[in-house]
Amino acid sequence: MPRTWPTAFATIAALTIFAAGLFSGGNTLEGWSLAARWTARAGFPIFLATYLASSLVRLAPAPWSRALMRDRRWWGLGFAASHTVHFVALVVATNLNPEPRTIASLVPGGIAYAFIALMALTSSKAAMRALGQNWKRLHSTGIHVIWLIYTLAYAKRIPAPETRAIGIVMTALAITALILRLAARQKRAAPAFA
Ligand code: HEM
Repeated sequence: MPRTWPTAFATIAALTIFAAGLFSGGNTLEGWSLAARWTARAGFPIFLATYLASSLVRLAPAPWSRALMRDRRWWGLGFAASHTVHFVALVVATNLNPEPRTIASLVPGGIAYAFIALMALTSSKAAMRALGQNWKRLHSTGIHVIWLIYTLAYAKRIPAPETRAIGIVMTALAITALILRLAARQKRAAPAFA
């Protein structure tokens, strides 16, 4: 299988879920809103795979975690592709919605999108070489900004009874992922006695 398969998989999954959302709505606005909601949801496991690749290989070295780490770039590009589909859905849903969004409500997501674009554009080995230490700064800041937007988006869903379950599950997953990153960091920092 070509190494790029995670990107193809994430793109096809996002497009399929996008179409399912569009056709499941009772009206046009509901369809586009569902497409926005479901594409964001589908992007979350893809994001987690990218976010956790380096930690999992450190905490649980095995063929599967090494393969995840080796293909991390393609998982990341798959996430960017799935979030591009989210972008199309949210632009149409926002335009159809009679309640206008405030500019302030667009800022956090907009910043995350700027990072997603910059990270996708600099995902090549050539960009890595050209940016040196700044490449690591950009990608590690970006991945945590995306983590934060996901966590806030899901935590925000906890108070309302109809979105509480998804809010709790996804927020718990996001926090567990952060704990795994911190544990892997700790492991790297700890002196080796063996
Ligand atoms: C300015 C940029 C953005 C806008 C305007 C926006 C808009 C939307 C809209 C309209 C929905 C569907 C709401 C609903 O009917 O429930 C949605 C859902 C969501 N979006 Fe975005 N979005 C943006 C960026 C992002 C980014 C960058 C992320 C993640 C990094 C994200 C994560 C989510 C999540 C987690 C959901 C809920 C999915 C679920 O219910 O499972 N959004 N967004």
